[in-house]
Amino acid sequence: MQIDKNVEEDGVIFMSVKDKEEQPDSKDSTASDVKKDGDTIILALESSCDETAAAVVKNGREVMSNIISSQIALHTIYGGVVPEIASRKHVEKINGCIRTALSEAGVTLDDIDAIAVTYGPGLVGALLVGVSEAKAISFATGKPLVGVHHIEGHISANYIENKDLEPPFVCLVVSGGHSHLVVVKDYGEYDIIGQTRDDAAGEAFDKVARAIGLGYPGGPKIDKAAREGNPDAFSFPQAKIADAEYDFSFSGLKSAVLNIINQAKMQGQELSQADVAASFQKAVVEVLAGHAIRACKEYGMDKLAIAGGVASNTSLRELLEKECAKNGIRFYRPSPVLCTDNAAMIGAAAYFEYKKGVRFGLDMNAVPNLPLGDRERRYHGRSSR
Ligand code: KG4
Ligand code: ZN
Repeated sequence: MQIDKNVEEDGVIFMSVKDKEEQPDSKDSTASDVKKDGDTIILALESSCDETAAAVVKNGREVMSNIISSQIALHTIYGGVVPEIASRKHVEKINGCIRTALSEAGVTLDDIDAIAVTYGPGLVGALLVGVSEAKAISFATGKPLVGVHHIEGHISANYIENKDLEPPFVCLVVSGGHSHLVVVKDYGEYDIIGQTRDDAAGEAFDKVARAIGLGYPGGPKIDKAAREGNPDAFSFPQAKIADAEYDFSFSGLKSAVLNIINQAKMQGQELSQADVAASFQKAVVEVLAGHAIRACKEYGMDKLAIAGGVASNTSLRELLEKECAKNGIRFYRPSPVLCTDNAAMIGAAAYFEYKKGVRFGLDMNAVPNLPLGDRERRYHGRSSR
């Protein structure tokens, strides 16, 4: 993946993500070059947290453009995402992202077959920006609307760089708000076999990073600090849940880290940030990888995919690579920039829904706590047309 980055005046990072191999010169191409008979082109929007993103995706797996406007720098001052600020920035940035996504793809709204948008889960004010924008475009153009579950988007990021990947497979979904172990039975069909009982994996990274003074966003900072540290310096607990072997719990681990920090403070000792980071990371990564490999074996699956922001963690990727090779499992992982929030993954997920005939009505609303895999039509706004 090639990422062109620009820091804007307000501190927002504007990124255009491109596949290294295919670099179409959109200025010289015409609509008939980019869209052949039978192609389905989706304009996808994502605004569930602190990234405003727009992408154009062809046939679910080919990213024609992928624009991400990241607010991380703005929220860093507050030590976490401030929902109000996130919503306001989405309103400012979304039209610019869409305009660039269309022009980089070399298409116009006329070439688009459907508009896809994340409608949950996420911050309600943030989601509403993308949802309202998508509805407005659908209303103005008469093109169909497809609502996408954010986590289904993360899972579908795997389809983009792995053209051969097809369900069924096991997917470990680890983001800032979710930790799920799922069996992807078919496109858009999921069995959740494990989930977190308390903190999500990314949340644990963020909280521990704050406690040891690394700041926000915690995941990438712990990942980096851990490279200089000793993962065996501290022995942190790896929670096992007796009645649900695939569930996760990270709150005990977080408390153990806090205890060590407090003890050191009371004894006037200086703790090595890198050692705590490496030991904490080892505890999280071993639990995640252990559950995922066990699930593959028990469910007879020879394919494992990972998804979500924490899936970009170097140590998790290395351990799973090793364990998968040892156990004859094919390991799929998106490039780090497709693990964290982006709209290309939403376009990929939307394609398979669109092909099944899923259409949302203009009464679609944001659903901040939308459960994963709920295919019932009980959410407001889901309709066929
Ligand atoms: O998927 P994502 O971008 O947003 C949500 O849907 O939540 O995930 C963000 C989370 C944050 O908690 C962040 O700290 C974590 O992913 N993260 C990482 C890494 N990069 C991002 N965690 C561990 N190691 C990383 N390299
Ligand atoms: Zn996410």
